[in-house]
Amino acid sequence: MGIPNEFPARRPAVWVNCAASLDGRLALAGGLRARLSSTEDLIRVQNLRAHADAILIGVGTVIKDDPSLRVHWELLGEPPGHNPTRVVVDGSGRTPEKARVLDGSAPTIIATSERAQRTFPPTVHTIVAGRTQVEIAELFPLLYGLGIRRLMVEGGAEILSSVLRTRLFDRLTIYYAPVVVGGATAPPIVSGPETRAPEEEVALELVALERMGEGYVATYIPRHASPVPP
Ligand SMILES: NC(=O)c1ccc[n+]([C@@H]2O[C@H](COP(=O)([O-])OP(=O)(O)OC[C@H]3O[C@@H](n4cnc5c(N)ncnc54)[C@H](OP(=O)(O)O)[C@@H]3O)[C@@H](O)[C@H]2O)c1
Repeated sequence: MGIPNEFPARRPAVWVNCAASLDGRLALAGGLRARLSSTEDLIRVQNLRAHADAILIGVGTVIKDDPSLRVHWELLGEPPGHNPTRVVVDGSGRTPEKARVLDGSAPTIIATSERAQRTFPPTVHTIVAGRTQVEIAELFPLLYGLGIRRLMVEGGAEILSSVLRTRLFDRLTIYYAPVVVGGATAPPIVSGPETRAPEEEVALELVALERMGEGYVATYIPRHASPVPP
C-alpha cells in the first residue's frame, strides 16, 4: 500500500519517544527489557508523559515489559497528578489478563481489530480500528474523537514502524545510551516491512541534539509530514 499524502480526518498531535542503544536496539536479546535511560532521561520522559493525554504502546511491549504507563511524579518532585490514558494496540486480543495496563488504575483503551474474539474488563474502553490488525490511520482519528489531543507513542519496534511509516507523527525523540547491545534478536528501533526503494524510506530532519546525562537525545521531525489539521 502506498503512503498517503494527507489525512483529512483529525488526529492528535503525536510525539514518538524511545530509548535505544548506540547500535539502535530497544531491548536485549529476544526483547528482554533493557534499562537504557539515564536518570536525566527518565525525568525528561516523565515530563512528556505528564503533558500527554494518552500514552500508546503495542501488545508486544505489554507482554515483554508489563509497564504501568503511569507518570512517576516522584521523579518530577511533584505530588501525584493525573495519569494519562493508556492505549494498547492489540489486534488479536493478546493482552494478558494480569497485565498492569488492565489494573484499572488509569483510564485504558484497547485498540483492537475485527478479528479479535477477546472481551476485556468493563474498566477498559475497547475500540475496533481495522479488520485484521489495528490501522493507525483509523485509530488516531478515533482517539481524537475520544478527546485525546496529545498522544505519546512509546513503542515497541512494530508500533514504531507503523507510526513512522504512516508519517502520522509530529516529533520523534530518541535517547541514545552509550551502550552497544548487538546480536541478532535484540529488537531494532523500527521493525516491520522491508524498505526496498528510497522513496519508501521515512525521511526525517534533525532539529535538536542534547546531552542527557551519559547519553544524548536526538529530536527529529518528519520531512513529509501529515500535519495535524487546524
Ligand atoms: N527502549 C524503549 O524505549 C522501548 C519502548 C517500548 C518497547 N520496547 C521494547 O520493544 C519490544 C516489544 O516490541 P515489539 O515490536 O515486539 O512489539 P510492539 O511494537 O510493542 O507490539 C507489536 C504488536 O502490536 C500488534 N499490532 C496491532 N496492530 C499493529 C500495527 N498497526 N502495527 C504494529 N503492531 C500492531 C501486533 O500484535 P497482534 O498481531 O497480536 O495484534 C504486533 O505484534 C520489547 O522488547 C520492549 O522491551 C522498548
